[in-house]
Amino acid sequence: MSERLDALLRRGTLRLTEAGIAGAPRDARLLLAGAAGLRPDRLSLELGQPAADTVTGTFNAYLDRRIAHEPVSRILGQRLFWGRSFRVTPDVLDPRPETESLIAAALEGGAAQRLLDLGTGSGIIAATLLAEWPGATGVATDVSPAALAVAGDNAAALAVADRLTCVEADWWQGVEGRFDLIASNPPYITEAEMADLAPEVANFDPTGALTPGGDGLAPYRIIAARAREHLTPGGRLLVEIGWRQGADVAALFRAAGLAEVAVLPDMDGRDRVVTGRAPA
Ligand SMILES: C[S@@+](CC[C@H](N)C(=O)[O-])C[C@H]1O[C@@H](n2cnc3c(N)ncnc32)[C@H](O)[C@@H]1O
Repeated sequence: MSERLDALLRRGTLRLTEAGIAGAPRDARLLLAGAAGLRPDRLSLELGQPAADTVTGTFNAYLDRRIAHEPVSRILGQRLFWGRSFRVTPDVLDPRPETESLIAAALEGGAAQRLLDLGTGSGIIAATLLAEWPGATGVATDVSPAALAVAGDNAAALAVADRLTCVEADWWQGVEGRFDLIASNPPYITEAEMADLAPEVANFDPTGALTPGGDGLAPYRIIAARAREHLTPGGRLLVEIGWRQGADVAALFRAAGLAEVAVLPDMDGRDRVVTGRAPA
């Protein structure tokens, strides 16, 4: 006879807990909901039901992967960001909640007409802003064609693909025109910090999405140096940063002639976003 879903959930929670996975009860619930094809908020209502053998098999396989430190979002292939679901594949960074601070800062400045997202990965920044600003168009770039394909799929799922152009580009190379908002969450982890990453990050995010090597600031130097060439007068540049990089990145923005330079915190109160504006 088939196990009930609640028995599967208890067993899964125990397995993850014994394997030392932080947040085991939550992860087990999400994985069971995914295996059963249920929305997580529906799972509680269905816990008394018997699980089909395929659900049990899929759940067990998911547990094995989580015990090997694969993040839940990668196992399920989906990540919720700014209230919308994005497809995540091995080719893209798993979007982080901290990046929502960049979205909040962008939205606070008012709607852009034309935006650029440098190093778009799964497309979360460009697609989210286009979904929030129905009158805007945008360009999303990445050096990885595989990442751009994911960004294109996510833009289509959010019904903004007709307003987004995806361009394979090494930072500014191949980028044309001016934008009233330029955003980027570039790779910024330092070479030294790479040694201390959790296995969930080190073993599953693409290295090229995590670090540019050295002091982690190389992309900011490149982005800041040519931002004014690509900003409309009064246009804004926003970048996500590592929490210890605020002073260095703000100095790069000022040296590039940007005005109103500010370092903004994330929800944990740590420096996370640097903004600047092209002179009017
Ligand atoms: C930290 S990830 C951010 C992805 C996505 N914007 C997000 O916030 O989840 C950095 C992205 O920059 C891209 N990238 C790395 N080097 C690049 C380069 N030289 N030119 C353009 N994009 C680059 C990576 O492929 C990756 O998708």
